[in-house]
Amino acid sequence: MTAVRPAASAAICINGVDFPVPADPRVSLLDLLRETLQLHGTKKGCNQGACGACTVLVDGERIVSCLSLAVQHAGRSVTTIEGLANEQGLHPLQQAFIEHDGFQCGYCTPGQICSAIGMAAESKRGVPSHVTRDLGDDHVAPTHDEIRERMSGNLCRCGAHNGIIAAIRDTYAEAAE
Ligand code: FES
Ligand code: FES
Repeated sequence: MTAVRPAASAAICINGVDFPVPADPRVSLLDLLRETLQLHGTKKGCNQGACGACTVLVDGERIVSCLSLAVQHAGRSVTTIEGLANEQGLHPLQQAFIEHDGFQCGYCTPGQICSAIGMAAESKRGVPSHVTRDLGDDHVAPTHDEIRERMSGNLCRCGAHNGIIAAIRDTYAEAAE
């Protein structure tokens, strides 16, 4: 069977810069980021969708990049941890992680932060979680329980979860409880 190859002009926008999609359609988005583009902020933990260390944002939605082929993202916009800070400084959530001791070794941290940004957007537009009581709400406040549930796909082997939750709540407090 002939492999489907992307058009030569196909590009993925990563942190605001266009990169060609890999010619090999088997390359995961995670491997494109880490191995080809040397963007090592996105971490490889399990490489099978179970830990969340590789979470990035694609058009604002959080995904685990180890389970996603790079070619799927031609024409889309990917944001990694390297793309969150700007000339004004760190993203507010990055700053909150520092202030709340939301990490120890830091290996899970880029995935935690990207995931939390995507999670906050999901809550804001009313996407329910397993613990959401009213499925009719068009906005779900990021309460402690909602954050715990929604971040359950991002594991922290250092056990920094209390600081992680505190940082997320602090950042998105305007909508909390
Ligand atoms: S490395 Fe992708 S979920 Fe673990
Ligand atoms: S800070 Fe070490 S795994 Fe989370």
